[in-house]
Amino acid sequence: MIVLVGFMGAGKTTVGQLLAGRLGLPFADADAVIEERTGIPVRQIFADQGEPAFRALEHDTIASLLSGPRLVLALGGGAVEHEQTRRVLAAAEQTVYLHVPYQAALGRVGGDDGRPMLARPDLAEVYRRRLAAYEEVATITVLTGDRAPERVCADIETELARVRAAR
Ligand code: S3P
Repeated sequence: MIVLVGFMGAGKTTVGQLLAGRLGLPFADADAVIEERTGIPVRQIFADQGEPAFRALEHDTIASLLSGPRLVLALGGGAVEHEQTRRVLAAAEQTVYLHVPYQAALGRVGGDDGRPMLARPDLAEVYRRRLAAYEEVATITVLTGDRAPERVCADIETELARVRAAR
């Protein structure tokens, strides 16, 4: 299981799909799986049930995916805020942190009303707080910013080969 983490706009889904293709693995996006399983858009879950309920559901979904067949799995940007989720990530072969600078992230996702976290007045603080959580779970870190997804994907493949060779 290769897991991708990082803030909204880091490119987790785009890069994850590319990487899955390159590695010959299926791809899953945890948010899409939540929406498939519940039949409710993430935005609606936030609005009706609140963030803590979403995080609990997100945790259950990620834990179940991690115990299933091998995949490239992209997580929502806030998944690492849940302590139990950080803990279950230890079961992944590699957890890749796509590090996106704050301004670049906003430039990519600004104005998306499917992302309820963007409405938070303390979004910059949320970003800062999450950096430590991403670093805690990451076994590989790759810089994204305005780099092409193919370049980011190639960097991940290089790092995967390097960690395998070092074993
Ligand atoms: C969230 C990020 C979203 C989604 C939800 C909450 C967050 O995923 O899980 O809107 O807390 O940062 P993306 O990172 O794929 O946008």
